[in-house]
Amino acid sequence: MTANSPANTPPKSRPTSGRPRILTGIRPTGALHLGHYVGALKNWVRLQDEYECYFLIADYQALGDHFHEIDLIRESVIEVTLDFLAVGLDPEKSTFVVQSYVPEHAELAMLLSFITQLGMLERNPTLKAELDSLPVTHRTVGFYNYPMSQVADILLPRAHLVPVGEDQAPHVEMTREVARKFNRMFGEVFPEPQTLVGEVGRLVGTDGAGKMSKSSGNVIMLSDGEADVNEKVRSMFTDPRRVRADIPGRVEGNPLFEYHDAFNPDTGQVDEFKERYRAGKVGDVEVKKALALAINRFLDPIRERREYYEQRPGLVEDAIISGAERASAIASETMIMVRDAMRISSYTSTRR
Ligand code: TRP
Repeated sequence: MTANSPANTPPKSRPTSGRPRILTGIRPTGALHLGHYVGALKNWVRLQDEYECYFLIADYQALGDHFHEIDLIRESVIEVTLDFLAVGLDPEKSTFVVQSYVPEHAELAMLLSFITQLGMLERNPTLKAELDSLPVTHRTVGFYNYPMSQVADILLPRAHLVPVGEDQAPHVEMTREVARKFNRMFGEVFPEPQTLVGEVGRLVGTDGAGKMSKSSGNVIMLSDGEADVNEKVRSMFTDPRRVRADIPGRVEGNPLFEYHDAFNPDTGQVDEFKERYRAGKVGDVEVKKALALAINRFLDPIRERREYYEQRPGLVEDAIISGAERASAIASETMIMVRDAMRISSYTSTRR
């Protein structure tokens, strides 16, 4: 393969492991919480045995709405890595990728932006909703363009599958369109990635008002201690009409029971609580105590692993560095393919 020779454009690459390749990611804007676990991490832990997984810590993308809090992003890269390790993502099986360690992300996003029509961003419903909720001072070109950078995140490792929630599906759709257009114009380089709709849940916040999110102050962190969990569960929103324990309560849509379903492995106890709750035969306090206990037991092994890694920062660093090395190797391979296909001369590809 030599530079500037379209005839030698390499074929669509298959992963070296023979397993389909997954890329998914998260923005490091704080440590992770139970909502992240239910909505993503739980599924990722399972996927790493079946697929070649790349877990992106998208610190460039985090600049989109946190450009005034770069220190928070830096610290969160470590916090998120610790959370990854704590829930059982394994840096030997999977590749952790800190986005800024692999600057090819930015180069690919820039090149792809020239074959991407503005309409793709204008029509993106997730982007539209997010822009509407941003103050004018935060509506930057970079934020507007973040779906484009996400397209590059997915295409850089030439991923086949992208496990994400509903809100991210438009970005994957855009990725498919961009990949198709690139391949049509320049020759086959990118697989057209599919959204992997797994069994992912969505966890309501402790206030019952919306999804769990740090900015709403309704979160239980994966790194919360026992006392924090007890206190947060004690003050959780339940059925507001139930001012006394002998009033029949509503189970459906009640965060207490949503959490019991998600974290209490004793389904017999959960069923019994539901029955008694509906009949006005159990107080919120009892249900909450059992819930706090269940969440604490669920978090115990996660806390233990987190502590293990907190005491061994070298291992955390190793996970980040070895991930960056693996991701860089694929990234430079992809960029050579891209430049060759586009017939852009470059120092890197002539040097080979
Ligand atoms: N936008 C995603 C989020 O906020 C994070 C992300 C960045 C991502 N790049 C990605 C997800 C690529 C999937 C694929 O959670």
